[in-house]
Amino acid sequence: MRKLILATLLLLAPTALLASGGGPALQHADIDLRDQASLQRGAKYFMNYCTGCHSLQYMRYNRLAKDLGIDEIALRQNLLFGDAKPGDLITKSMTDDDALKWFGVVPPDLTLVTRWRSSDWVYTYLKSFYLDDTRPYGVNNVLFPLVGMPHVLGDLQGRQEAVMQPPHEPGGEPTIKGLKLVEEGGLSPKEYDTMVRDITNFLTYAGEPFQLERERLGRYVLLFLGFLFILAYLLKKEFWKDVH
Ligand code: HEC
Repeated sequence: MRKLILATLLLLAPTALLASGGGPALQHADIDLRDQASLQRGAKYFMNYCTGCHSLQYMRYNRLAKDLGIDEIALRQNLLFGDAKPGDLITKSMTDDDALKWFGVVPPDLTLVTRWRSSDWVYTYLKSFYLDDTRPYGVNNVLFPLVGMPHVLGDLQGRQEAVMQPPHEPGGEPTIKGLKLVEEGGLSPKEYDTMVRDITNFLTYAGEPFQLERERLGRYVLLFLGFLFILAYLLKKEFWKDVH
């Protein structure tokens, strides 16, 4: 028996290690898909700061507007650029060839990014750019070493520097202990956090737009089940009335 327990523990050990993850800690994004104002702001930021390079190719503008309670006028004023029409898919303005030339990679479509990375990852990623002279755009990212993306929100967040920790053992590599704001941006750290959370909130919605619908539907389903229960109960009483 003891052997069996030991074997199970040994089998589980690597999983536990994997689950705890060796990488940098993620910050909590505090996602709330019912916060419509946050989703609307996030959509606006995304269209302004991200669609130059990233698409949301499974999402149409008018679907998004309907889900987030944005009317046609606001949609045209705030979210549609160039000759984009409400029924269009959200594409990026840059061609893949140009992207390859400038960044060495094609920026990925972000419709599902919060599902393959997690919302906390995206939130932390947007807060983890730091100055690094060795990189083509002068920045690196704690969560995504040697990242090809410039810090597009740098003027708002300000510039961060990495605070290094000496290697644990001699000959090892120094590691990043944390980040320090060395040049202020247009937003206070708190305002920047809110902005990044709004963008992450919006991207979480984009990854699973049906989630909003599901909650609404869920309420009707519960109501229906409630009615059914009462009906079934009354029927049962009616059927058994004469038996006793
Ligand atoms: C100037 C072009 C550009 C803009 C603007 C831009 N990005 Fe990026 N982004 C990139 C490139 C290039 C990569 C790929 C990085 C790599 O693979 O090294 C990337 C990667 C990412 C990733 C990582 C995806 C993954 O899992 O591999 C996320 C998340 C992301 N961008 C979010 C955003 C958000 C949110 C915005 C708007 C605030 C934005 N980006 C604006 C160029 C851009």
